[in-house]
Amino acid sequence: MQSDNQFLDLSLLKEKQITLAVKREDLLHPHISGNKYRKLKYNLKEAIAQGHDTLLTFGGAYSNHISAASVAAKNNGLKAIGVIRGEELKQKWHKNPTLKFAAENNMRFKFISRELYRNKSDRELLKGLREEFGEFYLVPEGGTNPLAIQGCEEILKQGDEEFDFVTVCVGTGGTISGLSNSLTHGQKVLGFSALKGDFLRAEIEKMTQRANWDLIHEYHFGGYGKVDEKLVTFINTFKKETEIPLDPVYTGKMMYGLLDMIKNDNFVPRTKILAIHTGGLQGVIGMNSVLQKKKLPLLDI
Ligand SMILES: Cc1ncc(COP(=O)(O)O)c(C=O)c1O
Repeated sequence: MQSDNQFLDLSLLKEKQITLAVKREDLLHPHISGNKYRKLKYNLKEAIAQGHDTLLTFGGAYSNHISAASVAAKNNGLKAIGVIRGEELKQKWHKNPTLKFAAENNMRFKFISRELYRNKSDRELLKGLREEFGEFYLVPEGGTNPLAIQGCEEILKQGDEEFDFVTVCVGTGGTISGLSNSLTHGQKVLGFSALKGDFLRAEIEKMTQRANWDLIHEYHFGGYGKVDEKLVTFINTFKKETEIPLDPVYTGKMMYGLLDMIKNDNFVPRTKILAIHTGGLQGVIGMNSVLQKKKLPLLDI
């Protein structure tokens, strides 16, 4: 399946003579959108080919991956187990829109402490989970593994060679690795890190052998999931001007950063840029309840 490129008509782009299009991967599927669709595609095929009837995966309370995996498993006749970060959620998960949605799609949960979660690839933890739930097909946190990267290699389509730069937001690095593998000669992918810290470079180097990518670290807004009034205002204005909704954890930060870089002349005139919309819009409702508690303006839905 392929998504369309939406060319943006913003005064900044005209002024700087930059062509910017957004690949609307967010429109691929109502619930398995963006990179989740790409990452789960070959994993679901593999789970079924291996004869599994259960998919087990990991995520946080507002995880786009948990939400998408619950629907993908259900649609493919698989049972789903979500191992969720934070034991405290055991009592109050039904107040969390992402977890409530996943449960409505029959996902069962196992809540574990943040400390245990940090060691989620630990053999003993996985052994315990197999004892508790029986055999399962394991999809790692964020859905990233070699089959997910293979799926992300299908994001770009014929005709996308016209772009000089592809941009994407980065969490685990799986999506940027797939894009890097599929770029043609002379193209470069810029990854906007949604996390604080410089450990992602080493992670991505394990997943792609190519040197056609770079990471931008200046637009994480204080760290993963951190949002301020400036970002909320940007996302709301961008939606009004382009009719493209962005999420506050990933795509909103990437687009903010990309337009800021264009404003600061980081790209020469006549550069063509393709920004990948990786979805994540299910997280807006959960973020709005956090913003409401902090008495900050809300994201338009
Ligand atoms: C909406 C969205 N965009 C981008 C990313 C980052 O992708 P990756 O983890 O492959 O770097 C994620 C999370 O994985 C996501 O949920």
